Amino acid sequence: LASAGAIGWACGDGGRADTTAAGGAADRGRQLFTSAALSKSGLNLYSCATCHDAVVGETPLVKPGAVLAGATLRSSYWGGQEADLLGAINQCRAQFMHDPEPLLATSNESLDLYDYLLSLEPGDSASVEFSTPRLIDDPLERGDADRGHALYQLACQTCHGEIGTGLGRSSLRIAQLPEDALIAHEDFTPRLVRLVFIEKVRHGNFFGYGGEMPPFSTQVLSDVALADVLEALGATGE
Ligand code: HEC
Ligand code: HEC
Repeated sequence: LASAGAIGWACGDGGRADTTAAGGAADRGRQLFTSAALSKSGLNLYSCATCHDAVVGETPLVKPGAVLAGATLRSSYWGGQEADLLGAINQCRAQFMHDPEPLLATSNESLDLYDYLLSLEPGDSASVEFSTPRLIDDPLERGDADRGHALYQLACQTCHGEIGTGLGRSSLRIAQLPEDALIAHEDFTPRLVRLVFIEKVRHGNFFGYGGEMPPFSTQVLSDVALADVLEALGATGE
């Protein structure tokens, strides 16, 4: 059973043949999913796969976006803020991939992407919870640096590169941690620097500036896990 949003999108699909064959629509959709092609902007740093695994366990990484197998069957998206599947995708494209021009339900690209998502069914049809604290006031305990290092590699390193060197970061536009963040906030107290780190991880964009970093919900990265990462980054607040 497809959700209302998905049916609307799929309507344009009438008469498309052999969508799951090799080289067919689903295959093209998978290529779109793993390339930067779904944004027309030269500023885009990401593919969909940067932030989403297609199926559970596809990578060992801790990605901020939900696993998408089953997304075609869900009744709401973005923690209930969005009822339409294509709308949810267009939010990602606008917020993170610098392309505010929505993909239209009838475009070849969006139909290929839809067929790819369909090919991942059944997956998990339950709506994905997505909570972040509204106000960042650092309720966190001190964490464990060793666990934090391991978690950093799974959750942050794809984009930011190695701690301290930035080696392997996906773009020079992405801050090297923790140095760049410390330099950018030189005149902040250690406690404020810690708040900046928490704010970035939980909200992505920070008081209106910078917005390409995706938010991590407490379901994806618990407060305890975040405290461990902060410990590894030396953002101890002291
Ligand atoms: C920079 C990271 C990032 C990129 C790139 C990104 N997304 Fe997302 N996406 C998120 C986050 C964070 C959410 C909100 C959490 C959630 O519900 O998955 C989300 C939500 C979604 C949802 C709703 C999932 C649900 O069940 O609630 C869909 C569908 C989706 N993205 C598809 C895409 C597609 C397709 C692309 C590529 C065009 C894409 N995203 C690119 C981070 C990203
Ligand atoms: C999908 C890519 C991506 C992932 C994953 C990611 N970040 Fe980021 N992050 C960015 C980008 C891009 C920026 C700079 C632009 C901005 O501020 O939005 C940034 C900025 C930051 C900053 C602010 C640096 C400054 O200049 O003040 C901090 C702190 C940060 N990230 C921490 C983290 C931590 C900790 C994790 C892991 C839990 C993480 N990020 C995961 C993309 C990412």
